[in-house]
Parts: sequence; C-alpha cells; structure tokens
Amino acid sequence: MVATPIKKKYDIKDISLASKGQQRIEWAAREMPVLKQIQKRFAQEKPFDGIRLVACCHVTTETASLAIALKAGGADAVLIASNPLSTQDDVAACLVANYAIPVYAIKGEDNETYNRHVQIALDHKPNIIIDDGSDVVATLIKERQHQISDIIGTTEETTTGIVRLIAMLNDGVLTFPAMNVNDADTKHFFDNRYGTGQSTLDGIIRATNVLLAGKVLVVAGYGWCGKGVAMRARGLGANVIVTEIDPVKGIEAAMDGFRVMPMTEAATCGDIFVTVTGNKHVIRTEHFDVMKDGAMICNSGHFDLEIDLQSLRAKAREVKEVRNFTQKYALLNGKSIIVLGEGRLINLAAAEGHPSAVMDMSFANQALACEYLVKNREKLKPGIYKIPKELDQDIATLKLKAMGITIDTLTAEQTQYINSWTVGT
Ligand code: ADE
Repeated sequence: MVATPIKKKYDIKDISLASKGQQRIEWAAREMPVLKQIQKRFAQEKPFDGIRLVACCHVTTETASLAIALKAGGADAVLIASNPLSTQDDVAACLVANYAIPVYAIKGEDNETYNRHVQIALDHKPNIIIDDGSDVVATLIKERQHQISDIIGTTEETTTGIVRLIAMLNDGVLTFPAMNVNDADTKHFFDNRYGTGQSTLDGIIRATNVLLAGKVLVVAGYGWCGKGVAMRARGLGANVIVTEIDPVKGIEAAMDGFRVMPMTEAATCGDIFVTVTGNKHVIRTEHFDVMKDGAMICNSGHFDLEIDLQSLRAKAREVKEVRNFTQKYALLNGKSIIVLGEGRLINLAAAEGHPSAVMDMSFANQALACEYLVKNREKLKPGIYKIPKELDQDIATLKLKAMGITIDTLTAEQTQYINSWTVGT
C-alpha cells in the first residue's frame, strides 16, 4: 500500500528557534496588558469555538500574543505573513512548537512562496480573516468566490488595506462585513503615529547606524504615519522636510513647523528619504537623477512600490549589499544611492516593527473586532464598519489603567451642561 503523504502543518525557517521565540514573546507580552486581559476573558467565554480563522499579519512577538489570545478563545487559527520581509522566524517557530498554531511564514520568502501561503490560508476555509493590507481578502474575492459563503467577516489592520476595501465596496465585490480596525482611535492615533514614528527610525538606525542629528530627512506623506516619522526625526535633531499631495495636510505640516515642498525640490537636498504615502512611485526616475551622492531611501508604507526600484536598477552599474538590509546602487552617473530594506517596510525589515505597548491597543481592537463579528453575524450586512465607540473607549480605559494614569470624570453639573443647548451668552 502506498502511504499518502501527510501535508506539513506549517512552513517556517527553523523549528529549533522556538525557545528564543518564547523568551521574546514573553518579553513583549509584559507591555501588552490589555490584550492579556482580553485573552483571559476569551479563555473563559470561548467566543470562537467552532470558528476557523486566518490571520495575515506581520509575524512578530506582538502578533504572537494576538494569535495566542484568539486560540485561547477557541479559534482554529492559522497565521501567515503579511509581508515577505517582516517575519520573525523565532516567533513563527515558537507558535508552531509551543502553541500548536500552524504558521506559514519565513523571513525573506519570495513572492511565489508568499502567494502560496495565502492559498494555504484560504485552504483552511476561514470564517474570519484578519488581514493586514487586504491580500487574503483580495485573493478570496478574485479566486475563491465559492468560499465567500463561509465568511462571517474580515478585520483590516492598516490604511492601505482600508483603501483597498473601499475600492472593493465601490466595485460591488465586497459582499461581507469588514471591520475597520485601522481607524479606531486607539489604533491609528498610537500605532500609526507613535509606532511608525519610532519603529521607522529604529529600522533606519539599525540598518545604517547613521546619526540623524543635522541630516536633512524627507518624509513623503503627512498622514498619521508621516506625522509620527517627522515628529520623531525632528526629536533626534534631523532637519525635516515634508512632501504632500493633500493641501490640508500640507498646511498642517507647515504649521507643525516643517518645510514643505515638492519631491522634485526635496530630492536635491535630502540625505535620507522615507516614504509613507500608500501610493506608487513617490520617489521615481526624475528624483533619483538629482539626488545627492550617498542619499539613503527607504519606505515605511505597506507595499514596496512607493520607491520605483525598477527604474533605479536600470540606472545602476552595480548593486551591492553593504550591510544587512542596506544596498548601495552605484549609478551610471557616478553617484550612488543607498536603498534600505529593499524598499519594503523598513521598520519590520530591519527592526522589530512597532513596540508592544502600541500593538497592545491595535491587537486589542483586532481581538474585539473578531468577537464583534461573531456576536453580530446575523445582523451585519456587507459593508465596512467602524469599531464601535464603546469598544474603543473600553480599550483606552484599560490602557490608561495599566499605565497607572487616572483622569477626571464629569460632575453632574458638567454632564447636564454638555447635554443642553439652552445656556448661551
Ligand atoms: N505592524 C507594525 N508593527 C507591528 C508589530 N510589531 N507586529 C505586528 N504588526 C505590526
């Protein structure tokens, strides 16, 4: 008799990294008290019993805590990477070895492997998809229409994914509920701003060991992520220039005290460039041509298309890895340009992503959004939903408490005043 090959329930770099991963996951969990509390409640209430769940996230120590909480709540969960360069291989190993969570993610995986992992995740026949960038949902809609009847809903982590979901809704192809985690106050005010702000600079520094003080640092995009990068770069002594396409954000950046100008101008004087726009080819051929010798460019937006690397490659006579995550493009014009993290999210490629203390709130939103989908599955129509205000406020209250901070409460007189319109001048 010929034995049927048993399909391996994971695809990771090296299972022997599990104990290192365990140590790092525990370290990160110290800063994630809100998610921990949710995990404890999930363990008792089991809101996800019988639910198949796919999480497509950056496989980090923080994502591990989310996966563990969902599993504690009864979910039959599979985890895949949301970016080829963001996986922490020790974390992947630990989740497989110590928590029996199937993980398909290897740092440095090629696009083909990345897409194969998306397919494996869909083979799990999920009822809920946690997406970061919307690749699983987009693939489901494009290639697996027959599985849509299994879907209770999806939750989306990031701005880029929300933009894609809105496009799907406008095209009439989003036929199930989607929870917009990104726009929860306890997510984007902290994760996008302070998380991206710190982790992007952390990535640049780990990759290059460059001194930011005195450097001209150009931030493309002044959304919450751009605001965070600009603010933190200024804090380290960089002379920050902002580029924008939105007039309101342009004013905001100017009134926050940054120089604002088009990229064609900024390209001539920047030492370090960071793209955080969510759009395509923000730094492109005409910009490379006028950059200073040795200019460094990197991206902290979700996809690796913000820098037109193909046209940069066409201008290069040699591309050489000079440090980890640092490639020197020697150009035919005699100058060189340094590309960090292959144009992928520098904070996750060269560093460890956002610190746990902010991911605590982001992933508390994810966990509660999944629970909300399950609890309201009969009521929710197709569409994109905000995280309910009460959940957002609950997360903020728990976080404040964990931080040992107390705030004021309204007096009865104030409550009455704020709810009335009769008292004026
Ligand atoms: N996105 C940004 N930072 C992250 C982190 N530490 N874990 C998961 N997703 C992230």
